[in-house]
Amino acid sequence: MTRWNPDDFTSALAPLERATTLPAYAFTDDGIYEREVERLFRAHWLCIGRLDQVPNPGDWRTVDLLGERLVLVRDLAGEVRVLSRICQHRAAELVSGTGHSRSFQCPYHAWTYRLDGTLGGAPHMERVAGFDRADCALPRIRHEVWEGFVFVNLDGEAEPLGPQLAPLATMLDGYDMGSLVAEETATYPSDFNWKVLVDNFMEAYHHIATHRDTLEPLFPAAASHVLDNDGPYSVLVMPSSPDHPPSVRVAKLPGLADDQQPGLVAAVVYPFHLFAPSGDNVAWYQLLPESTGRFTLRIFNCFRKDVLEDPARAEDRERQHAILRIIHEQDIAACEAVQTGLESGHFDRGRLSHLEKAIWEFNRWWCARLGDR
Ligand code: FES
Ligand SMILES: [Fe+2]
Repeated sequence: MTRWNPDDFTSALAPLERATTLPAYAFTDDGIYEREVERLFRAHWLCIGRLDQVPNPGDWRTVDLLGERLVLVRDLAGEVRVLSRICQHRAAELVSGTGHSRSFQCPYHAWTYRLDGTLGGAPHMERVAGFDRADCALPRIRHEVWEGFVFVNLDGEAEPLGPQLAPLATMLDGYDMGSLVAEETATYPSDFNWKVLVDNFMEAYHHIATHRDTLEPLFPAAASHVLDNDGPYSVLVMPSSPDHPPSVRVAKLPGLADDQQPGLVAAVVYPFHLFAPSGDNVAWYQLLPESTGRFTLRIFNCFRKDVLEDPARAEDRERQHAILRIIHEQDIAACEAVQTGLESGHFDRGRLSHLEKAIWEFNRWWCARLGDR
């Protein structure tokens, strides 16, 4: 049952110095989650993949998102589309996993769809009055591509994404994210609320404890800061320790002193598209929410194409994947403990340090969109 009460959220909206976290029930209540599905997830833009995951005509990749069975496909003309993969005869699933084909043929009664979603063949339908194959195309899902990432808007009514992210694209210009190629690192069934991970991803405060032996020596918590912006995103900059300068010099972000290099950057496009550019790769966390306390997390590392194709760099890449798994497994322990704490009945809300500014920014966006319209 929804317990939404606007008064519960005023403390999260205060200036950062006085702000609190969201109340615990924002992370545990099924009614809040249902409200998030309607007002955040279906009404905004969610990333379902990357263009480089379907590089050639005929390539496709299925994604399950909020109960929708989708397929990201590059049709034979080379155009990328997002379609429902539910057969329009009697609702069977057309394909699963990933693949390459010239069409989608339903395993139930062999209706055959072109890769642009139009129905090509439907056996034994000649006696059906008024049957028109043109009425039976697979539903197309509205999508936009930003820096190689493919986003969908399920309710079809969101403002176009590109203009909203134009300042973010400028900030991250030097990383050339659109040219990178994603390689899968790991998949984690995750038993905590999706916002617990977003909050964890967007602050480096916890480097001093959770990652004291891994990230803190490289990217000290105290040097981290969040760039000012007013778009639907946050950017956390984690400069490298002077003792561990980055090996690769990359784009310089505005808001850094001349002698600072970006080191590691963490970004979220609200509600939950998480990625972290560093000197030579971009970590990408794909969240697929399933319920209040559960989502699937797929982690990818995006590399330059030449790095990915060079057998001599395979070991380097595997090392990068292994590091990412170690870091995330440290975070899992923290996030699971937080979820247990949120459900305990002895936590209502807490105070945020200046190092947690991105959480405060996100909470303001979250409150505004979940509030009454
Ligand atoms: S359900 Fe697909 S052809 Fe019948
Ligand atoms: Fe972490």
